[in-house]
Amino acid sequence: MGFLTLEGLTRLYGDVAAVSDVSLSVAKGEFVSLLGPSGCGKTTTLQMIAGLVEPTSGRITLDGRDITHEKPDRRGLGIVFQSYALFPHMTVAQNVSFGLEMRRVARAEREARVRQALALVQLAALADRYPRQLSGGQRQRVAVARALVIDPPVLLLDEPLSNLDAKLREEMQFELRGIQQRVGTTTIMVTHDQGEALSMSDRVVVMEQGHIVQVDAPYRLYESPATSFISAFVGKMNRLSGVWRPGGVEIGGRLLPCNGAGLSEGAAAVLAIRPEKIGLKAPGAGVLDGRVKGRFFLGSAWFFTVETPAGLIGVSLPNAGEEPAREGDAVGLDWSSTSAKAAKPEGAQGA
Ligand SMILES: Nc1ncnc2c1ncn2[C@@H]1O[C@H](COP(=O)(O)OP(=O)(O)OP(=O)(O)O)[C@@H](O)[C@H]1O
Ligand SMILES: [Mg+2]
Repeated sequence: MGFLTLEGLTRLYGDVAAVSDVSLSVAKGEFVSLLGPSGCGKTTTLQMIAGLVEPTSGRITLDGRDITHEKPDRRGLGIVFQSYALFPHMTVAQNVSFGLEMRRVARAEREARVRQALALVQLAALADRYPRQLSGGQRQRVAVARALVIDPPVLLLDEPLSNLDAKLREEMQFELRGIQQRVGTTTIMVTHDQGEALSMSDRVVVMEQGHIVQVDAPYRLYESPATSFISAFVGKMNRLSGVWRPGGVEIGGRLLPCNGAGLSEGAAAVLAIRPEKIGLKAPGAGVLDGRVKGRFFLGSAWFFTVETPAGLIGVSLPNAGEEPAREGDAVGLDWSSTSAKAAKPEGAQGA
């Protein structure tokens, strides 16, 4: 039995299901992300856990207690929303202290806990500043301190980093995860950013149109996406259509090596391979020849689009400090059969 469990959680708006039959068990201390495109039901799920949206049906338990219909303040969860809405007329310390005052915590204890929470997010030195005197990342950390100071059983984060610029956002990913690991607070974070979900979470819950479609550790999700929707949403994936033959998928008379369980010979099949699993070689030295159409330098890697008889294929190579193939060059694409997987075309079952 999990520390926080959702059982068949559903929320209808009229006859539209914002969240549909969501079941999930979260262990104590776990960091779980809800990942999915806009409108898939992430925020609605989080708000039902917080008690801000009433479920149409289903059940929520916290540490064995049914909290489905409990008032938000009785649940005592820590919440950080997208616009973390600090009180502008209060100092950092007063912002963090607010939740403790509402809970009638005595002054001495309040001061100690505020100091502790600010130390945790490395803002002790800025306790007397006002929010307008802080950077975006500092404000964000105040919001986290404010949520953690009440020592909540569960921390709920809704797109907590979305207001930050790209670099700060990346730094805060590691920082927030570090804080969570030090405190050990069970955390549920909503995000539509796959990089964020992969880098911060113990497990990622992928949602599509109100439903959970996969729950897995980040690495497993990336390596074994359950559907083509997930493989396209989490990282990049090449998908090449052909016919299954023993050992691979045949496209235009070439056999492209891959694994394919449960496919019968001659059946339509789609080969799926990640760009970073493909190597560039001399023409004729790989499993498929092509010509470089586009080349993009990403700093730590190069990304190529290569025109081939099987279609346009994306290839990603780590930057090894030398200039690789150029646009227009003839190249061979190479991969091992274990890096590619074949499945029935989507629409048919079991992709
Ligand atoms: N109060 C409401 N009334 C009617 N429909 C709603 C309401 N709140 C949410 N919805 C609908 O429920 C669906 C899920 O919304 P939700 O806010 O949970 O999505 P989300 O995954 O958080 O999206 P985003 O990434 O854009 O924040 C959407 O189709 C939305 O329009
Ligand atoms: Mg949302």
